[in-house]
Amino acid sequence: MTTRVEIINDFLAINVKPGKTIQDIVEASGSALPFGCRDGECGTCVVMIESGMEFLSEVTAKEVTVLKTVGEPSPKARLACQMKIVHPNGLVRIKY
Ligand code: FES
Repeated sequence: MTTRVEIINDFLAINVKPGKTIQDIVEASGSALPFGCRDGECGTCVVMIESGMEFLSEVTAKEVTVLKTVGEPSPKARLACQMKIVHPNGLVRIKY
């Protein structure tokens, strides 16, 4: 029972089990998606979820604060270092 994660910019796709963080997936896949603090503080890892938001963990208060600070109002915006896959049998498409 996995969910497929596609990182559009890098033409990468990986099937992962729920519980994996997007940071884990990016690091394992060789994606060039940049990270800074890895703790939801700096905003370096802002990504757009093109589809599959429902397969990800809920947006945290920390994410809301940082996304406002970096001026990213899109409802598709998330912090890659703060998200986890929480449901199987889905497709999550990420753009950065
Ligand atoms: S790496 Fe700093 S907020 Fe994600």
